[in-house]
Amino acid sequence: MSARLIRVVATAALPLRTGAVRTASNAAAVVAVQQQRSYSHGQGQGRSSNGKSSKFATGAATAFAAATTTGLMLVVSASEKTSKKGDYAAVRKDIADILDDSNYDDGSYGPAFVRLAWHASGSYSTFDKTGGSNGATMRFSPEAKYGANNGLERARARLEQVKQKHPWITYADLWTLAAVVAIEEMGGPKVPWHGGRVDDADNKRTAPDGRLPDAARGADHVRAIFYRMGFNDQEIVALIGAHVIGRAHDGKSANGSGYSGPWTFNPTTFNNGFYTTLLNTKWTEKKWNGPKQYTDPTGELMMLPADLAFLQDADLRKWVEVYAKDEKKFFEDFSAAFSKLLHLGVPAKTSCWWWPF
Ligand code: HEM
Repeated sequence: MSARLIRVVATAALPLRTGAVRTASNAAAVVAVQQQRSYSHGQGQGRSSNGKSSKFATGAATAFAAATTTGLMLVVSASEKTSKKGDYAAVRKDIADILDDSNYDDGSYGPAFVRLAWHASGSYSTFDKTGGSNGATMRFSPEAKYGANNGLERARARLEQVKQKHPWITYADLWTLAAVVAIEEMGGPKVPWHGGRVDDADNKRTAPDGRLPDAARGADHVRAIFYRMGFNDQEIVALIGAHVIGRAHDGKSANGSGYSGPWTFNPTTFNNGFYTTLLNTKWTEKKWNGPKQYTDPTGELMMLPADLAFLQDADLRKWVEVYAKDEKKFFEDFSAAFSKLLHLGVPAKTSCWWWPF
């Protein structure tokens, strides 16, 4: 397994990649500039997860900020072309190009993009129709600071360069599209997606804290959380298969949940490996100074208490066994359930673009 490499590389001023002139509130503009400065965005060469070579035009794009009484005006030279409104294929390509970074985790931002979209969407409630990805309310406090969302600032910051280059796309659309692209690029299925989400101007529609699952709890809790979103047992099991990718971050080297380690030995490949690993491994409680979690005999892999609930509960386990044997079915069911998740609370639009097209 590749070594865990977490390194946030501070860079000098990175160019804002947009041909636009825009005004922004002081706070938003400062955050954008800070994000550009705090992360290495792999100017120059990068390799996407499907092995395609990618290149960011470093160009001569330059940005300067001029303070005005009402806010900062960001003026960016037009040396790098932006896309036309609605050119999702151009956005898709730029997301694919920034997935890989050998200095980040296991070499890909893909898992972080998937978790960002899931947490933005999973706040939805079918009871009062609040929450969901529409609005991108995680840009604001308090949602950005909810404990469940720890670490997601890295994914949001990474995507900022795509937003700057394609300013017409909303954050709400960008975050969800990024997950769709990441899953496909990591070897998973195409996930139907449509645009049309808006970005709220403030946090007034932010859903309350506590709507995402607590990893320390069992099947009853998991069901209560996902039933609230409108999912059934089979869909819940299909969705948890996303734990084949990525890892938990213990907080020592990166802001995270406090849990530690990947679920599988190939955390940047999307397949049905979560189910096979869950079923075919002897899980014991990890002895460590951290929250209760389980470990495999090598000590490298982990399962959360909530993951093991999928083994212990007979109705959930039934689907774990189905997906462990039949990856094609897992891909079909995951694609449908994940698409449903990303569109919870999003007004249906018949005239807009769908992915895949
Ligand atoms: C019972 C339900 C779930 C629980 C309790 C849970 C809990 C967690 C926890 C504790 C982490 C570690 C976060 C960190 O330390 O950085 C995590 C990571 C992750 N989760 Fe879940 N999760 C659940 C469901 C889901 C679902 C439905 C998806 C997507 C469909 C998902 C996708 C991910 C991904 C991709 C990561 C890795 C992120 C990274 O590598 O940065 N999870 N999850």
